[in-house]
Amino acid sequence: MSRVAVLKGGRSLERQVSLKSGARVEDALERLGHEVLTIDVGADLVERLMGSRPDVAFVALHGRDGEDGTVQELLEVMGIPYTGSGVSACIRASDKVLAKHAMRDHGIPTPDFYAFNETAFKELGAAQALPAIEDRLQFPIVVKPASQGSALGIKFARTPADVPAALVAAFSYDRKVLLERYVPGRDLAVSILSDGDEAGGAAQALPIVEAVPEQEDFYDFESRYEIGRTRFECPAVLDSGVAAHAAEIALQVFELLGCSGFGRVDLMLDGDSGELFVLEANPIPGLTETSLLPQAADAAGIGFDELIGRIFKAAHG
Ligand SMILES: Nc1ncnc2c1ncn2[C@@H]1O[C@H](COP(=O)(O)OP(=O)(O)O)[C@@H](O)[C@H]1O
Ligand SMILES: [Mg+2]
Repeated sequence: MSRVAVLKGGRSLERQVSLKSGARVEDALERLGHEVLTIDVGADLVERLMGSRPDVAFVALHGRDGEDGTVQELLEVMGIPYTGSGVSACIRASDKVLAKHAMRDHGIPTPDFYAFNETAFKELGAAQALPAIEDRLQFPIVVKPASQGSALGIKFARTPADVPAALVAAFSYDRKVLLERYVPGRDLAVSILSDGDEAGGAAQALPIVEAVPEQEDFYDFESRYEIGRTRFECPAVLDSGVAAHAAEIALQVFELLGCSGFGRVDLMLDGDSGELFVLEANPIPGLTETSLLPQAADAAGIGFDELIGRIFKAAHG
């Protein structure tokens, strides 16, 4: 039995989701017989970790600081083993631009995109290049902040007139934004568990979850967490070849970015061409009641406590 610090909350925009993930993780760890310390991550994080010296930190944070390598770096410095991906994987995965470049460089399909930071617009006249970008990506165009986040700041621009406002919205979340080709089709998530329990210690793709929007054509932050506005189907009803291909691509992305423990890769299945495109990889996907990874684990016969136990056992540091 270990003394486990569950890190939750934090200052990110996904604080509320993290509090829910963390609370469920605490209950599971207690049921597994561990001594649990709860830390709502803030200015006293290092002090509290130094004071309590846990055997392991279970990182149940989402978004800024918790998922982007910052907290992981501090845990490394303090020599506290922790769950999930290491510093470099978190940095790569939490930045969609870095992740998409890595995918493109390695021949993993991801929608075409152009990314800019604020200075390109403020100091280099990037706005003048928008018609050329629009011409290449074709409308509708998806505009999103580079960093992680539950569809926050993501806008679909349907005409050139929509682009400036979409950029302003995305820049309110991050200094770097991307304009991405829209993929019409089905929204799939492949959850991955990599705890060395599998033969050969390989990462395992869990049954695919499809998010089916029930009302809007695009599900936003609110609808994702409000019961009833998005229906989740697990396992997604897919041709077995497509499902296997999605799992294979997701595992390639997980490995390419250097992720460990667990994670989730989001993809689109193009309804016209049948092609798969990777949108992003989440190093610390949600662990709430309605989150996709626990649903996927359940469909694979892995209950929540077993899931948390396996993520815990794969902690490193
Ligand atoms: N290029 C795209 N084409 C079609 N839908 C997209 C595209 N990018 C994002 N979306 C929609 O927005 C959702 C969130 O986008 P994603 O890139 O996964 O960012 P987040 O980090 O907010 O989850 C996706 O699950 C999908 O429904
Ligand atoms: Mg996503």
